[in-house]
Amino acid sequence: MESVSVLMPRPTFPYLEQELDKRFKLLRLWDYPHSTQFLKDNANSIRAIVVNSVDPAKKLIEALPKLEIVTNYGVGVDNIDLNRCKERRIRVTNTPDVLTDEAADLAIGLILALLRRLCECDRYVRSGRWKLGAYKLTTKFSGKRVGIIGLGRIGMAVARRAEAFNCSICYHSRTKKPESQYKYYPSVVELASNCDILVVACSLTKETHGIIDRKIMDALGPKGALINIGRGKHVDEKELVSALLEGRLGGAAMDVFENEPHVPQELFGLENVVLSPHIGSATVETRTAMADVVIGNLEAHFRGKTLLTPLV
Ligand code: NDP
Ligand code: DGY
Repeated sequence: MESVSVLMPRPTFPYLEQELDKRFKLLRLWDYPHSTQFLKDNANSIRAIVVNSVDPAKKLIEALPKLEIVTNYGVGVDNIDLNRCKERRIRVTNTPDVLTDEAADLAIGLILALLRRLCECDRYVRSGRWKLGAYKLTTKFSGKRVGIIGLGRIGMAVARRAEAFNCSICYHSRTKKPESQYKYYPSVVELASNCDILVVACSLTKETHGIIDRKIMDALGPKGALINIGRGKHVDEKELVSALLEGRLGGAAMDVFENEPHVPQELFGLENVVLSPHIGSATVETRTAMADVVIGNLEAHFRGKTLLTPLV
């Protein structure tokens, strides 16, 4: 398989690159989309690409006439036009399951960081301003009502973790899950009106784009906390900034943003906000496991075997 050209449009994780280098002819296109000459020169030999959620994969796929497989280094595939891939008979894979625990752990971490003001406390101590007994009180997590949008793999893992904090769980998804004991709300606004902490854990689709708008923020209210570990485009960021500045929303913890790596500057000055740079799956262990899934899929495809995690 050393002669099979596999393209990566961006550096991701050294282990993944090393393992790809060992097995394939890995082409690195680090300056895409700024320079396209390299792509033009190699377009007819590239049979596979490895992309992740922020790569402009849709355009890239169109530029590669001999493409056979798109392996996504991540579970969310909103960056890929699955119908177009189907049309062109291009296989698509992602990395489900292996990152579920990490993403759910991060959701709980963000909840605790927001409610217990951990980032603010850290800044306070480092500033040297700590006086005994002088700091603000924070908010208890245990026993709160946690609402989850998208009770899929990650949403379920968040629910299980929150149960260990004696929280009551409710959720919204397109359909009620008969097997779930959690309370179902048929609309996001009803969910937001009936929880203290709203966790966004659904996939990004046309229907979930902008699902967190002013109405939902107002339903969560001045004591409510919004946690987004899904995709930035789920949240109307302008409305988020207004809701926080006007005190209509209690706080927000965000791992993902509308146009990464851009983050609205207005959020930087707010203490009731926790920001992280899209690190849901970013541990050595999980990124290694994800890399193994990508490599396993590529090897299976080029050996004519069954893909590990086929989507198309
Ligand atoms: P799953 O496919 O298991 O879950 C997706 C969930 O989204 C399903 O429960 C589905 O529920 C729900 N959903 C889809 N459409 C709608 C809708 N219109 N309204 C409400 N719910 C909807 O995926 P995972 O749990 O593995 O991953 C979820 C997402 O998390 C990924 O797509 C990705 O975007 C994001 N993610 C972010 C990470 C990070 O680094 N921050 C890390 C990993 C993932 P139903 O079908 O019942 O409607
Ligand atoms: C995912 O797996 O979807 C994460 O967002 C990483 O891209």
